[in-house]
Amino acid sequence: MTLKITPLTSIIAAEVSGIDLAEPQDDATVAALRQALLDHLVLIFRGQDLSEPEQVRFAGFFGTPFEIRQHDNLERRPDADSRVMLVSNIVENGKLIGALPGGELQFHSDSAFDEHPLMATVLYSETLPSRGGETKFANMHAVLDALDPEVRDRLEGRGGVNVFDFVTQVKTEKLDRANSVHFTHPAIRTHPETGRRALYVNRLMTEEITDMEPGESSALLSDLFDMVERDEFHYVHSWLPGDLLIWDNRGAQHARTDYPLDEPRLLRRVGIQGDKPF
Ligand code: OGA
Ligand code: MN
Repeated sequence: MTLKITPLTSIIAAEVSGIDLAEPQDDATVAALRQALLDHLVLIFRGQDLSEPEQVRFAGFFGTPFEIRQHDNLERRPDADSRVMLVSNIVENGKLIGALPGGELQFHSDSAFDEHPLMATVLYSETLPSRGGETKFANMHAVLDALDPEVRDRLEGRGGVNVFDFVTQVKTEKLDRANSVHFTHPAIRTHPETGRRALYVNRLMTEEITDMEPGESSALLSDLFDMVERDEFHYVHSWLPGDLLIWDNRGAQHARTDYPLDEPRLLRRVGIQGDKPF
């Protein structure tokens, strides 16, 4: 088999074919995959038949798979790998079997509310609804490049306060900071491997810009969030069972479209540990 990397849009995402991820990979292949992730921010592998350990091994090509902690609010199966989190709306014995059970999920970068957010995320699909539940990806370098220089200047040197409500999974009124996970990161971050800068505030988690009057901060964030939603920055992934995706949270954001919540959806997720954004 020959490894082939085919861009899916002119802005973000590439499909990788000619590779069976259930097999071990040599160093040259791993290096090519790592470079492809830096080049395209999202990689898509179709028709993979992967066990949990094989998925964790794949994540390990890019960094250290993240051990899931308690506050991730998930009910794991007793035999599950401690690095695999289920993303699902399925209820078994009266309990959700996974995290992020809702329908639509606003644009975000994974765990931006942590001091060390995930560098990348690996998601593998098992069970899908008949419609909806697509995952959209936005190139945040391109969003930053498209910003009005005056707007960019207002963000330079400022932070975005990122919070997350694990119960509602939406940002509503201001959260009680004493009882919610939150962290302030630069509103514009630098990708540590490519040196490219990216907008790093998101609709799901960013409540305010630091050192800015509240009204100005809300208006600016609202404009930025609207911009991230422009189709020109996106690749939209329609899932098939056996798809494996990896995305780079340092340069991309993602969102999920709504789907019928009475239909089961189950994906397996492995996060890859990241550094502190700068
Ligand atoms: C995630 C996530 C999107 C989806 O796992 O971090 O945002 O399509 N998932 O389920
Ligand atoms: Mn996510």
